[in-house]
Amino acid sequence: MPNFTHPARTIGGYMGLQLPEGKPYYPDLIKLNTARNSLEYILITQGYTTIYLPFFTCEVLLEPIKRLQLHYHFYKINEHMDPIIDFEVDDHSCMLYTNYFGVKTETVRQLSKTQKNLIIDNAQAFYAAPVPGIDTFYSCRKFFGVPDGAYLYTRSPKRLELTRDTSIDRMSHLVKAADLDVEAGYADYVRNNNVLIDNEVKEMSKLTQQLLAAVDYDYCAAKRRENFRFLHEQFKDINEFQIVYNPEDVPMVYPLLLSQDNLKAQLIERKVFVATYWPNVFDWTASDSLEYHLAKYMISLPVDQRYSSEDMNYMVDIVKSLLVED
Ligand SMILES: Cc1ncc(COP(=O)(O)O)c(C=O)c1O
Repeated sequence: MPNFTHPARTIGGYMGLQLPEGKPYYPDLIKLNTARNSLEYILITQGYTTIYLPFFTCEVLLEPIKRLQLHYHFYKINEHMDPIIDFEVDDHSCMLYTNYFGVKTETVRQLSKTQKNLIIDNAQAFYAAPVPGIDTFYSCRKFFGVPDGAYLYTRSPKRLELTRDTSIDRMSHLVKAADLDVEAGYADYVRNNNVLIDNEVKEMSKLTQQLLAAVDYDYCAAKRRENFRFLHEQFKDINEFQIVYNPEDVPMVYPLLLSQDNLKAQLIERKVFVATYWPNVFDWTASDSLEYHLAKYMISLPVDQRYSSEDMNYMVDIVKSLLVED
């Protein structure tokens, strides 16, 4: 007989947010709160003591490394954004590689065949399936309108006991973007990003899980591919980063490398908001390094599901109007 004095569920009351009930894209992966914490999960369960990671990546990945007091070494990449492996990975070490912009899946495949204790950061490649046996993590908010959330695939059978995160205090930028516009929510976006710093590893929140189950993944992938292809047609002859584009890839942005000073700032002035990947690289590397050059001159043009071919045309016209002949 249920206890009606202290009932376990509620009936009635007000209506909550109603979202379509679809399916998550990775139902079988471990659901966590952030990508950086997925790295922590791997480092704990695999017991690594040393990690090799690229100079060209996001500084938040150092959070778990420092928390666990691991030894870490940076490695360089070449002009194809492939790793320069001049170190040896032993049983207690691992190597992290980033699937840059979602267009380095072939390099991931090659490394998976040869590289011991490889960890793949697919934060920029949500749709790139994990290679069996290779620890891989994803960050959901780079591809979809969610406040946080990550997926982890690991070959380790060990599991950590986790409490579940809540996202309620990190939602304001998404709500403002929906009700007002993206610019109105920008300050909140920065603040909510900062709230993600130095959190413990937790299970993905219920809210983020519901938001992710409501996404039309096929539609989003098709839009990204279509927009990316269009930009590639427009820019492939002047792009200083030679993209080997595989039509199966679903990139995060179109990475356009042009060594033209101030182009990024001029685009932002015209309200084409292009992010810098990654500002910390300016502190980590010398100004004559390739990584510094990439951080300074790579223009990351959005290709996501929010944009039509008309938007892409508009953006291309702006970029082309700013190009200076040499
Ligand atoms: C390549 C890369 N990996 C990992 C992360 C961290 O993702 P999360 O914010 O989900 O921890 C970021 C950015 O935040 C990133 O750019």
